[in-house]
Amino acid sequence: MKVLAFNSSPRMDKGNTAMILTPFLEGMREAGAEVELFYTKKLKINPCQGNFICWFKTPGKCFQKDDMQMLYPKLREADIWVFATPVYVDGITGPMKSLMDRLIPLIQPFFEMRDDHCRHPLREGTKHGKIVLISNCGFWEMDNFDPLLVHIKAACKNMKREFAGALLRPHGPALRGMMEREAPVDDIFEAAKEAGRQLVRDGEMSVKTLDIVSRTLMSLDVYVQKINQYDQETLDALEKK
Ligand SMILES: Cc1cc2nc3c(=O)[nH]c(=O)nc-3n(C[C@H](O)[C@H](O)[C@H](O)COP(=O)(O)O)c2cc1C
Repeated sequence: MKVLAFNSSPRMDKGNTAMILTPFLEGMREAGAEVELFYTKKLKINPCQGNFICWFKTPGKCFQKDDMQMLYPKLREADIWVFATPVYVDGITGPMKSLMDRLIPLIQPFFEMRDDHCRHPLREGTKHGKIVLISNCGFWEMDNFDPLLVHIKAACKNMKREFAGALLRPHGPALRGMMEREAPVDDIFEAAKEAGRQLVRDGEMSVKTLDIVSRTLMSLDVYVQKINQYDQETLDALEKK
């Protein structure tokens, strides 16, 4: 099984998104998947130019000579695409959106009806695989992921891929601090790893496992107080310099 993962946090492996993505991919590898991970920050992916050259003049081929040319064969062959992104202004990051927009060479210009809805047929040679969303956000509540979930589920229908589920980490910045203070958070990393194993081994992730990844780390009141205290101390320290 081939897995192609993208982490669109500009903080790359040092970020909070990576704290969930890393064990998830480890679990996938343990279960026998061949995993490739890319950081969008290290890739050159221009925005789509919207001229539909990839649909009419050179069907299936984008004219832009950037890193998408290296990624297209990998995207076509992968059984699972993992889209990992922090929440940025209630959505995915800009680089992740550019990557997703550049997927249109994989589909055809024609319309067909699927589940009573207009869709594009997938071009020959692209697997009907799955998409997993991995995200973390700064605010405390789970509903901060609602716009991303609606978006990625809709994109799955658009790209004829199955939505395999999401690993969501609300109040994500709290996790690193707790880990560094050796607070008991290993269950979250173990659940992320287990979700990776499950998806490769069983073809699905259990709700129970995903719920552990998202579990409350501290009460809303405590989190708000800690964030505000940290922000104030950071501002004060910089003012003194
Ligand atoms: C430009 C920007 C926009 C953000 N917008 C939101 C937001 O709308 N909702 C939210 O809960 N967190 C938001 N955050 C916080 C990030 O989601 C949070 O810090 C996350 O842990 C960053 O993940 P990373 O370390 O992997 O980059 C935003 C952060 C940045 C830099």
